[in-house]
Amino acid sequence: MVMKKFAMNTSVLMGENVCEQIGAQADVLGARKILLVTDEGLQKAGVVAKVLQHIDKTKFAVTVFAEVKPDPSVKTVDQGAAIARENGCDLVISVGGGSPIDAGKAIAVVIANGGSCADYEGLDQYTEPPVPLFAIPTTCGTGSEVTFGAVLTNTDTNYKFILYGYNCAPRVAFLDPMLVMGIPKQVLAPTGMDALTHAVESYISKGATPQSRPMALEAMRLIGKNFTCAIENTTNVEAMTNMLYAANIAGTAFACSRLGIIHAMALPLGAFFHVPHGIANSILLPHGLDYNLGYDDAGYCDMAVALGEDLSGLPKEEGACKLVDVIRKIACDVGVPTTLSDVGVTADRIGDMARDTMKSSHIPVNPRPISQKEVEGVYRKAM
Ligand SMILES: [Fe+2]
Repeated sequence: MVMKKFAMNTSVLMGENVCEQIGAQADVLGARKILLVTDEGLQKAGVVAKVLQHIDKTKFAVTVFAEVKPDPSVKTVDQGAAIARENGCDLVISVGGGSPIDAGKAIAVVIANGGSCADYEGLDQYTEPPVPLFAIPTTCGTGSEVTFGAVLTNTDTNYKFILYGYNCAPRVAFLDPMLVMGIPKQVLAPTGMDALTHAVESYISKGATPQSRPMALEAMRLIGKNFTCAIENTTNVEAMTNMLYAANIAGTAFACSRLGIIHAMALPLGAFFHVPHGIANSILLPHGLDYNLGYDDAGYCDMAVALGEDLSGLPKEEGACKLVDVIRKIACDVGVPTTLSDVGVTADRIGDMARDTMKSSHIPVNPRPISQKEVEGVYRKAM
């Protein structure tokens, strides 16, 4: 039996210019020296400056670390932690998508515990509590601003691993819709598909709880209603705000329920072929749902309805199939790649990827048991 737990360790502050509250929240912790973790693109685009304008420089010393790349590496995290320690930082603020936020979590662990983030793979593998972390998402996808883990890559071995612990979650998440307004649709499409995959996998996970399931369903309802409008116009305030909130709600749900085979299979695609996380999920999503079909037909019907399908009069088995159709339609509408071959994946590494998939903590909570051979089969179908 899967042990279930619902916890939420992050205060979520929402609204336009909510970053004005950073100083007051830092005061609560007595923090004065900030390491701001981000990426070069956000710094160049002026997003970091928008956040910095809300931080009183006479009160707080801020060191900006803008070296995070997609799929943050062990080396980058250790470098960020070394800079933070040199500057005596007592608060980490991550600004960005999943990569800077995940890097910030791991940096906060290494500041407090020393060594390398590679020493802390798995659950609660560190002894000292991480220094406090604030997270400011600039995409509508990962939900990393409320989750307990960081996905990191050891670039020497092409191995992606998760460092996690309940006190790894950011203390405060600041959701400012103005920070996601006007993001390129090439960013919104995969990150929105990631959020959708979180909601779907969370809802049918064996680790889902009575708290997480309504959250996952609400995330799907918001995504079903707003994703296409947001893609058509990424400055549509209502649609973008709802996408930002949907991603956050889905993150809160899956942080507790865990996910399933789609995310377990997506990580090796990133490690071996550098397929962006949201793209990997959107390609695998219909195939993973096909694999799990018949293991939770009622759940599939709930999700199809949340995404806007009318299933009245249909038997459950047929309704469940509609979910796969509606997911394919959303992927088509937002314009993401639909096959692994489209994104440069070659069949020669399927065996290695399937082996790494089986190490994932998402595998035991997938609704249908899966073997390494079956994982290989799902990868082949997605080619
Ligand atoms: Fe994800």
